[in-house]
Amino acid sequence: MSPFLLTRTLPEDTTDAALRADVSHGLTRTPKTLPPKWFYDARGSELFEQITELPEYYPTRAEREILIARADEIAEATGARTLIELGSGSSEKTRHLLDALRELHTYVPVDVSESALTQAGVALAAERPDLDVHALIADFTGGLTLPDTPGPRLVAFLGGTIGNLMPAERAAFLSSVRSLLAPGDALLLGTDLVKDPSVLVDAYDDAAGVTAAFNKNVLSVVSRELGADFDLDAFGHVALWDAENEWIEMRLRSRREQTVKIPALDLAVDFADGEDVRTEVSAKFHKEGVRSELAAAGLDLAHWWTDEGGRFALSLSVAR
Ligand code: AVJ
Repeated sequence: MSPFLLTRTLPEDTTDAALRADVSHGLTRTPKTLPPKWFYDARGSELFEQITELPEYYPTRAEREILIARADEIAEATGARTLIELGSGSSEKTRHLLDALRELHTYVPVDVSESALTQAGVALAAERPDLDVHALIADFTGGLTLPDTPGPRLVAFLGGTIGNLMPAERAAFLSSVRSLLAPGDALLLGTDLVKDPSVLVDAYDDAAGVTAAFNKNVLSVVSRELGADFDLDAFGHVALWDAENEWIEMRLRSRREQTVKIPALDLAVDFADGEDVRTEVSAKFHKEGVRSELAAAGLDLAHWWTDEGGRFALSLSVAR
């Protein structure tokens, strides 16, 4: 058996404190917001897996297509001995990369979900006795402390999840990624691309209603964790294209005037009829925008690969 190590950098109660802070802050401001990271309890993660299989939701398939086509080039270009995957989740797509990276010595999956890390990590360590797997329970939007592993390092941030950060958060995040790297080390970044708004809106408002259930799941999380009495039928799912910011917004729209009690926060939240809670932004990109955001963080764009349909891009950038 190869080593499987799990390191917790998040105290068990951080999650609870962060949820309380996000909910009390987000639901007392105008417009109301809830951050997307609270979608992903066990049910939310399951719903997200279902989303990735919907006919309307192309990003996962498009990214997998690129990874399969380019894994060898990525291995060749980086010669990575350590792969750090941020927000690894189930690590399914990463298999293509892991199989191609011939020099790989250590895999460091990083996620806030301990169950996802343990499941994926234990399976992988059993399959790949040659590989050190050092899983990190951590919030990658904070600063990361990495184990001492051999270079060259490759950081992978896939799925287009960088689009869920606001522009200022993206800049801070890319700088913190750069700080994990030595000159010549690389970042592999997945970004969804700007395209026909109707294609984008359909991807976030599918006919089967899976994304609507995923969106409303955040209310179930707040109800369960903080004792709130959200009525899921009293909110509607909204997905809209913000052409100015070039992002998709998901919202939950109150179907009536209502007051929701959140006992753990000693809070009662009033909703007007038709009032929205913004639950996610998912920014879409152009090549030149990605290039300049990377450059601002000290990362030089070296490769830009898209799927056949030009819907999604993987970029490989190198630390200056
Ligand atoms: C995979 C987290 C980037 O923004 O497309 C899917 C999440 N939200 N459907 C995305 C999501 C609604 C997704 N990320």
